[in-house]
Amino acid sequence: MTLVLDMARTHVPVLAGELIDALDPAPGALAVDCTFGAGGHARLVAERIGPSGTLVCVDRDPDAEERFEELAAEVACHTRFLRMDYTEALALLAQEGFTADIVYFDLGVSSMQIDTRERGFSYSYDAPLDMRMDPGQELDARTVVNTMEERQLAKVFATYGEDRNARVIAREIVRRRRKAPIETTGELVAAVEAALPAAVRRRFGGSSPAKRVFQAIRIVVNDELDDLDRGLPEAWTILAQGGRLAAISFHSLEDRRVKHFLADRARGCICPPDLPVCRCGRTPEAELITRRSVVPTPGEVADNPRSASARLRVARRIDIGEVA
Ligand SMILES: C[S@@+](CC[C@H](N)C(=O)[O-])C[C@H]1O[C@@H](n2cnc3c(N)ncnc32)[C@H](O)[C@@H]1O
Repeated sequence: MTLVLDMARTHVPVLAGELIDALDPAPGALAVDCTFGAGGHARLVAERIGPSGTLVCVDRDPDAEERFEELAAEVACHTRFLRMDYTEALALLAQEGFTADIVYFDLGVSSMQIDTRERGFSYSYDAPLDMRMDPGQELDARTVVNTMEERQLAKVFATYGEDRNARVIAREIVRRRRKAPIETTGELVAAVEAALPAAVRRRFGGSSPAKRVFQAIRIVVNDELDDLDRGLPEAWTILAQGGRLAAISFHSLEDRRVKHFLADRARGCICPPDLPVCRCGRTPEAELITRRSVVPTPGEVADNPRSASARLRVARRIDIGEVA
């Protein structure tokens, strides 16, 4: 078992009340938690679906499986754990003919992952550059940082980190790694800081100028955005008529994907507006439960600053022909 720092013992579930209100799990419901983590949301869902309900929990991190064993022993509903990528898990459930009343995602990394020093997710601790959610996978942050071409690194920092200093940071990383490989999170933070003039560094105030670079590398290592693009349609496939799909995202790249996916399902006719009659025959498959994304209250952000960027979106699958 990995060493867990004291503060990492719990992951506080984000937007928990809002998620449960929007999913409205009924007694006996079939539910899929695609990103189990520490099971904070799963526990609330389990309480609502009761002894006749079924909760399938998915996570690619073996530490999450240990947490699942604890939860499974305490809740009354039927439970099952799939230690795999959520896209694979959802495809497997579809093959088995499983239909779900609720499916939800709480994207990104858990507090246990961030705060377990040796997993190398955090710019706050010096540790080997790792960042793999699934420690069994080959690609890690060290490989990305030391082998990706400079132009590609800059593109990754600009696109996945939305970092305005992407090019100078990529240049400094490549300059340093020519002398010796960058092995640790501390060395990566030092490279980012060295790339930026003092005046730019000061603009970050209390936050680290390496934050966006770490986010970008983590996204690449774990293929997070492609996974989301594949996972959302898989989730939709197993959703029963009337079933609900929810996603909590933590940055605009994720939220945009969730928003467009759900809006696309909620859209009816896509014929050009000047056509007198509909030719596409398309009808909405979804009703948006959240017209705008739901964000945490100031109180939640004060209690759990990691919730600050969270956004929740939820939709209900509707019968073909049912008017949303
Ligand atoms: C933010 S945490 C979830 C926290 C959880 N909702 C709770 O209340 O404790 C995200 C979890 O999703 C997992 N995860 C992220 N992407 C995944 C994927 N594509 N497949 C499976 N698990 C994934 C991570 O390993 C992490 O444990």
